[in-house]
Amino acid sequence: MSNGKWSPESWREKEKRQIPEYPDQKKLEEVESTLSEYPPLVFAGEARQLKNRLAQVCNGDAFLLQGGDCAESFGEFNSAVIRDNLRILLQMAVILTFGEQKPVVKVGRVAGQFAKPRSSDEETKDGITLPSYRGDIINGHPFNEASRVPDPERMIRGYVQSSATMNLLRALSQGGYADLHQVHAWNLEFVKKSSQSKRDEKMANRLDETLAFMQAIGITGDTSPQIRESEFYTSHEALLLNYEQALTRRDSTTARPEDGYEGDWYDCSAHMLWIGERTRQPDGAHVEFLRGVKNPIGLKCGPTMTPDDLMVLVDKLNPRNEPGRLTLITRMGEDLISSKLVHLIRKIKAEGRNVVWSCDPMHGNTVVAPNGYKTRKFETILKEVRGFNEVHKAEGTYAGGVHFELTGKDVVECLGGGQNITHAELAKGAYKTLCDPRLNATQALELAFQLVEMGDLEE
Ligand code: PEP
Ligand code: CO
Repeated sequence: MSNGKWSPESWREKEKRQIPEYPDQKKLEEVESTLSEYPPLVFAGEARQLKNRLAQVCNGDAFLLQGGDCAESFGEFNSAVIRDNLRILLQMAVILTFGEQKPVVKVGRVAGQFAKPRSSDEETKDGITLPSYRGDIINGHPFNEASRVPDPERMIRGYVQSSATMNLLRALSQGGYADLHQVHAWNLEFVKKSSQSKRDEKMANRLDETLAFMQAIGITGDTSPQIRESEFYTSHEALLLNYEQALTRRDSTTARPEDGYEGDWYDCSAHMLWIGERTRQPDGAHVEFLRGVKNPIGLKCGPTMTPDDLMVLVDKLNPRNEPGRLTLITRMGEDLISSKLVHLIRKIKAEGRNVVWSCDPMHGNTVVAPNGYKTRKFETILKEVRGFNEVHKAEGTYAGGVHFELTGKDVVECLGGGQNITHAELAKGAYKTLCDPRLNATQALELAFQLVEMGDLEE
């Protein structure tokens, strides 16, 4: 199949869904040109490293944990938010590593997760209709006409925030904050305080003994970087292609001057980028853009995707069938996961394609509570992951990862869990998300323990 010639701007000739029309084109061009001069946020070699890690997941030798905010915001930009989100992912990763006895590849929805696809272009409140909010990198959340106008300058602010976020993440993950002993101590504290099962408590204690033993024989944070440091990668939905293109660079280390080849293209706004459920048209702008960059990429697969639709996309996005290049992030909904996933798996298997299978149990399970709050039930989220694991087990394929919307803060956005959050509690002031409901810190850790308990991970 011929896909035509790719360039960083070839997406502009395609159908562009979910990308705003900027009223001020001149300002847009200025911003794009400014951003294209700014330093990249990640180095191509890091994206390649993540691709290698994901190849291990593809082979069943590692597990992918991807998670973070639904939407980062300009208003909530401070070290506590960044640190607490990292911390919760690190805590979950330790639980999963120990439970599964496999390395866990940690990928945050962070440092660029600003642009949001919307099901409706407009939003109506008290009889007034305005353009929908599309994420802080595009327009403003306040419900008034001025704030909803797409403003290109927001891309610069998004870049600056991503760059400072990235800097702190690097410092924390390399500088000692992510020390395994420290992360484990937080987990012990959680297990003691919460209503976790005896089995979880036992697991935490076993890890305690293991760490004490390692310390006794001299394996400590001082002697081994694996104890003191943590590999942490960033990702976001590649939605606002003006921003993504401006941060796309040639990797000089892959250049071959003798052939006149200037190097592979990488989208250096994040290590991994994904294509959302609403922008996965095979001939659309988003698929066009991402097929040409060498980063590992994700593809959201919702319930309307047929096995044939999927194959067209896999051919475009991973024509050389490289393990680690493509992660299929299924988001079917708890009621459809069993009936839909099996056909996609069988097709991929029959065609011999190398993919990572990851489960997003969030986006197919959003409901509106009677009091108007958009929410998700902890138990439903868990059921979708369980369904995902069962189908893989029956088909003999590897359930390689999970994808969550979560926060390290004590928000009240998702129902249920050990805290038994009810509809009424959503209205008490701790519902903070700008877009979709996130698991709070307690629910996220409970979920990690439950994943291990599911047993499939232990095989
Ligand atoms: C998301 O991951 O925030 C999202 C919008 O997901 P999806 O494209 O699967 O709906
Ligand atoms: Co979301």
